[in-house]
Amino acid sequence: MAAKPWSGRFAKATAKSVEEFTASIDVDKRLYKEDIVQSMAYARALLKAKILSPAECKKTIKGLEEILKGIDSKKITFKKEYEDVHMNIETILISKIGDTGKKLHTGRSRNDQVATDLRMYLKWRAIEIISLITNLQSVIIDLAEANINQIMPGYTHLQRAQPVSFAHYLMAYYEMLERDKGRFTRAHQNADSLPLGSGALAGTFFPIDRKFLAKELGFSKICQNSIDAVSDRDFVLDSAYAASVLMMHLSRLSEELVIFSSFEFDFIEISDDFCTGSSLMPQKKNPDVAELTRGKTGRVYGELMSLLTLLKAQPLAYNRDMQEDKEAIFDALDTVSACLSVYIEMMREIKVNKAVMEKAIKKGFLTATDLVYYLVNKGIPFRDAHHIIGKIVAYCEDSNMELEYISLTELKKFSDKFGYDVQRILSCEASVNAKTVIGGTSPERIKEAVKHARANLLHAQA
Ligand code: ARG
Repeated sequence: MAAKPWSGRFAKATAKSVEEFTASIDVDKRLYKEDIVQSMAYARALLKAKILSPAECKKTIKGLEEILKGIDSKKITFKKEYEDVHMNIETILISKIGDTGKKLHTGRSRNDQVATDLRMYLKWRAIEIISLITNLQSVIIDLAEANINQIMPGYTHLQRAQPVSFAHYLMAYYEMLERDKGRFTRAHQNADSLPLGSGALAGTFFPIDRKFLAKELGFSKICQNSIDAVSDRDFVLDSAYAASVLMMHLSRLSEELVIFSSFEFDFIEISDDFCTGSSLMPQKKNPDVAELTRGKTGRVYGELMSLLTLLKAQPLAYNRDMQEDKEAIFDALDTVSACLSVYIEMMREIKVNKAVMEKAIKKGFLTATDLVYYLVNKGIPFRDAHHIIGKIVAYCEDSNMELEYISLTELKKFSDKFGYDVQRILSCEASVNAKTVIGGTSPERIKEAVKHARANLLHAQA
């Protein structure tokens, strides 16, 4: 077995149990591309610093290219005894190109190396997730556009509140997802600072051109303090937080899909290919995708908490504790992208049970608030109007009647301000149409919202 790159000061070989315990290769092997790209840029920086000759630089880059191909084609496998992806690649390089390979780590530490890899990785994952969110938004907009005039009960406390259109309800999720993209954009920006050139903690002795490295590796900023550069994992937290809030939003949508597709509500139908059956009850069709997404939210929150706890009270600068960050953030982002991917397909297939929604809006006094405003417009102070309509609702409830069917004569018993024009505002349609305020429920507003949303997505993709 070849000696470890750091074995010089050790009299005894590492215990097998410690090798097992400290190795992170099974987790961080997925950083191999970032690690190799970083090393290629670093070799060029070493050439500029006259540490590598042009021939040595060429040889190093060629060696790294071959390693990349070897890993891609699964011809190269990693070994636990080399702990992590960085030492595995360096060891393979040395075995391939000999002594020249031993120069690559000059002035670099695994501490600035891993921070650089992880930032590179999280940057592209943020872009990938933003594009998945955009796809989900686009499916949501399609569904909204097809349901501009589809009225349903709007809820607060899961009690029927006021009528809204299904489109308006769906567009609420468009808005949430838009803010999620903002959070991933900020996570991307915060990861976009180059640690490389910070060494183990104290910077590097050699004339490494960090501006050159930043440009080569696509970083728009450079970490300004070498201690901070190797200790900072805020950018990991930013991704984990963005992932958590996104999952919170998806969990709310999931909860509603579960409720709305239940026999009791029956507002929507989730397509067969996105449901599963029961091994025991032959009639069952379960909304497992929505339920699992709701469940996986807990897992992503857990990862955010793990990361916060992991970083708490760590003395500066690098500590091995930090190695634990990758498993948590990888799993959080994998979970998010799996949920988004399946949601994009599932939402495309959602069927709306129009008749059931139409029947549902007939019950629950959804236009009671409109009646309050009717009286307000007739000069009755809001609080008094509220009280009067409360009495009317109680009366209707006692007589098992919906507001729509109450006669003018009966209404007049509660207030002499009621006139013939009241009939016009008793329907859910009128109620929805009346909210022409910005952000309101009227079909014109929703059409506008859909149009803006589409333009926004096109703009974002351009
Ligand atoms: N694999 C480690 C990590 O992921 C990097 C190694 C730093 N090790 C060290 N002994 N300084 O954080």
